[in-house]
Amino acid sequence: MFEILKTKDGSDTVFSKQYNATYHSIHGAVRESNHVFIENGLRVAISKFDSLSILEIGLGTALNLFLTLKELSNKPIRYTAIEKFPLSEDIYSNLSYAKEEGFIHVHQLPWNEKIEVKDGFVIEKINADFLEFKSKEIYNLVYLDAFAPTTQNELWQVEVLQKIFHMMAHQGILVTYCAKGELKRNLKSVGFIVETLAGPPGKREMTRAIRP
Ligand SMILES: C[S@@+](CC[C@H](N)C(=O)[O-])C[C@H]1O[C@@H](n2cnc3c(N)ncnc32)[C@H](O)[C@@H]1O
Repeated sequence: MFEILKTKDGSDTVFSKQYNATYHSIHGAVRESNHVFIENGLRVAISKFDSLSILEIGLGTALNLFLTLKELSNKPIRYTAIEKFPLSEDIYSNLSYAKEEGFIHVHQLPWNEKIEVKDGFVIEKINADFLEFKSKEIYNLVYLDAFAPTTQNELWQVEVLQKIFHMMAHQGILVTYCAKGELKRNLKSVGFIVETLAGPPGKREMTRAIRP
């Protein structure tokens, strides 16, 4: 069902046979995650808010979570990651970044529990379908990292974007690698202010949206 693939920056990604899609850009998995989620999402949110509550839609390999954890910040961070199909140990433990300290630990954390993994950094991995996920928490940073609309159209529908909008704080930031015109129109239609930013190598553009 899953296969590990090498991407152009030397880091691994996963290919899902079920979705016939890769978890990251084949032009560079770590490079894409760093560019889209860390540089254009996390760092901006850290400069804007005293504490962060992050929602990730599609935990997958946990690369975004791991890079977020490695980022130096003295701000309290709560990280909620939703995943419908958790990867098995034989996949995550063989990824190129699995050798880095702390990566396997993140995968071994129990599901559906809040765990403080280091001072002020709390992780909750939730094994659920985002379409059914409900939360009382208000997020000020959202990593929208589902498979592309061509593969998984149901997660990019206006109703889903509206649901995310209502889970977000004012001035909250949503980042995604997807830069399709339809997504940007849909984000605007639910009330987001939408920016098109340069994408990581191999991809022309990405999207950042702010909840006013
Ligand atoms: C593009 S990949 C994830 C990339 C991930 N952020 C990473 O760094 O590896 C999309 C992820 O969304 C998950 N997914 C698919 N449908 C979902 C759903 N309805 N709810 C939650 N997660 C879903 C997939 O299993 C997959 O792990």
